[in-house]
Amino acid sequence: MENLKQHIEQFKDEFAKQLRVAQTEEKLEQIRIAFLGRKGKIIPLMTAMKTLPVEEKRIFGPLLNELKKTSEQILEEKKQQLVNAKHKQELIRQKYFDVSAYKPNQLASSLHVYTQIIERIEDIFISMGYDIADGPEAETDFYNFQALNVPENHPARDMQDTFWLDVPGMLMRTQTSGIQVREMKKKGAPIALAAPGRVYRYEATDASHDFMFSQSEGLFVDKNVSISNLLATVQTFLQELFEEKNLKIRVRPGYFPFVEPGIEVDFSCPFCTNGCSVCKQTKWIELMGAGLVHPNVLKHGGVDPIEYSGFAFGFGIERVAMIKYGINDIRLFHNGSVEFLKQF
Ligand code: PHE
Repeated sequence: MENLKQHIEQFKDEFAKQLRVAQTEEKLEQIRIAFLGRKGKIIPLMTAMKTLPVEEKRIFGPLLNELKKTSEQILEEKKQQLVNAKHKQELIRQKYFDVSAYKPNQLASSLHVYTQIIERIEDIFISMGYDIADGPEAETDFYNFQALNVPENHPARDMQDTFWLDVPGMLMRTQTSGIQVREMKKKGAPIALAAPGRVYRYEATDASHDFMFSQSEGLFVDKNVSISNLLATVQTFLQELFEEKNLKIRVRPGYFPFVEPGIEVDFSCPFCTNGCSVCKQTKWIELMGAGLVHPNVLKHGGVDPIEYSGFAFGFGIERVAMIKYGINDIRLFHNGSVEFLKQF
């Protein structure tokens, strides 16, 4: 009898000792099996109890049952403690997880050169009080041509080779100029907007031509707008864009059916004073088409050409980026080359 008592005490001590150092749920399960399982340390105690005389069985029976029950309870509590501690640790880990933590040898990401240059262009126009506008890339013949003073069968349609869609009267826009009319119809005059976006031309590609590229349109309509307003705006914009306060512009006559007069704007090379490879030794770089908005275009936009006048201009965004960053092939913009992209 004394012997059994001793064994029970030993059982308790050892059980407590092992539990104290157990740190995982797996370890707890091992302890449960070792002490309370079908071949556990409790079994020989039970067997020993059964050989005792009846009076002693009455004492040790409940004692052993109690031992089993409390051991199971302690085990369960310890398990709960471990689960809680783990949960708490996880919360702390989440709270202090630093998404910006430096990881050596990681490839740095950056905004696509397109995004960077478009954001820059937008910032400059916004700083001049312009709104940013957008229009559909799948456009109607009306907005891409007719509303821009290019009726059906007009020879100027051949200036821009067009991707026609299977839907009659629909095309992939060849220029962002259609946005001029869309926005005037929506907002009336006065209006000041810049509209960067993709355009499509049914052309063979080479280092300076692509079947898909980006343009930004500019439109300003108010009372008494003159060509000098256009020149000052364009010059200021280019000075900001190329970060060159001394940048100058010069104009040549140019034909676009939706402006009258129409001009082509060149700007002084921001990289040299005496000719370099960027300006091909000419000191000037050709960039945009512009002019005073043709009265017919104002009319299509629902704006009275007697009361209002305005200017418009358009230029290629890739061309700007190519000049600014010294990129020599327009096709690099969307060929997805990481080698190219990681330079920006
Ligand atoms: N849309 C013309 C082009 O794509 C550019 C332009 C815009 C010219 C606005 C004049 C006025 O070539």
